[in-house]
Amino acid sequence: MKAIVLCAGKGTRLRPITHSTPKHLIPVANRAIISYVLQQIADAHIHEVGIVISPDSGGMIREAVGDGSQWGLSVSYIIQETAGGLAHAVKVSRAFLQDSDFLMFLGDNLIEGGVVPMIEEFAAHKPQGLVVLKGVEDPRRFGVAELDSNGAVIRLVEKPKEPKSNLALVGAYVFTADIHEAIDGIGPSWRGELEITDAIQRMLDMGKVVRSHVLKKDSWWLDTGTMTDILEANRVLLEAGDGEGKEGLFGGLVNGENSVASDVVMSGCELVKPVSIAAGCVLSDCRVGPHVSLGRGARVNGATIANSIVMEGAEVSGSIVLQNSIMGARSRVTGSGGGKLSTVFIGDDSSVQLG
Ligand code: G1P
Repeated sequence: MKAIVLCAGKGTRLRPITHSTPKHLIPVANRAIISYVLQQIADAHIHEVGIVISPDSGGMIREAVGDGSQWGLSVSYIIQETAGGLAHAVKVSRAFLQDSDFLMFLGDNLIEGGVVPMIEEFAAHKPQGLVVLKGVEDPRRFGVAELDSNGAVIRLVEKPKEPKSNLALVGAYVFTADIHEAIDGIGPSWRGELEITDAIQRMLDMGKVVRSHVLKKDSWWLDTGTMTDILEANRVLLEAGDGEGKEGLFGGLVNGENSVASDVVMSGCELVKPVSIAAGCVLSDCRVGPHVSLGRGARVNGATIANSIVMEGAEVSGSIVLQNSIMGARSRVTGSGGGKLSTVFIGDDSSVQLG
């Protein structure tokens, strides 16, 4: 089995950060989002991975991930020239995939427990497609599946106005080569894209078997499309930790004993766990946490920070109380904040003076 990871999305809802960093490289718990996805693929013993990138932001992903050997993977890059949708991404991956069965993983989706259970289920039942579903509060944001009383998929609709169930399509799918014929049989949706949801519906119409794997109610699935989603991912992953303190793409260390890199300089600083403080950080007279990730070389002086991501080389200075914030690499927030709680969402190399 091969895998493709879809990373060509523009991440418009995460501007200004995504003006300079593709969303897949945004660090949560001090590891790039894509590094969790690649780790989960490696855990499923899939070796050959094609990463679908866009011509404009793809270079940075290529630089960060390289040949994939960091995860024991063999990574190739596939350029998707236009934002033509998820099924279009499969189309442009055809030469890489050939007639192989494959896992398709959206590069901004994080799934508790990874993809091993889905791959095992696919191998055991040999359907032509397998979709992953999760009950959500507002399914209108997603593709939605309707199941029959035996749990078989009978209908799939992309972002329905009136959803027939609360079961959203999670961004991990397993297919045989039958999906290619189904994709050839669909046209663009109302948003002008070739939807994978429509292609899977087409498979059903062609009489193919599509199984569903429903994630447990209390397990997490994080679709990191907005600032709130990113902070939620940071919170959940800091809580979960990876227990092993592995070095991530950005040198981050996660949770437990390893939540603070050994060379961090601290004076008069209170840490409220869980936090992830990367190498080279300098913290003085501050309170950091809970749920704070500080990237490599970040500096905090005099401030209080909770539930936030402060990226590499960024600085928070002054008696400011910061919460629910994301600060890009090398950005600066200074001042007192007028004694009020402050929230910022600023891009790389930006400066903000608060009060
Ligand atoms: C895509 C799929 C949708 C799925 C979602 C999961 O949506 O089209 O069916 O539920 O990913 O993240 P998009 O991110 O393109 O809006």
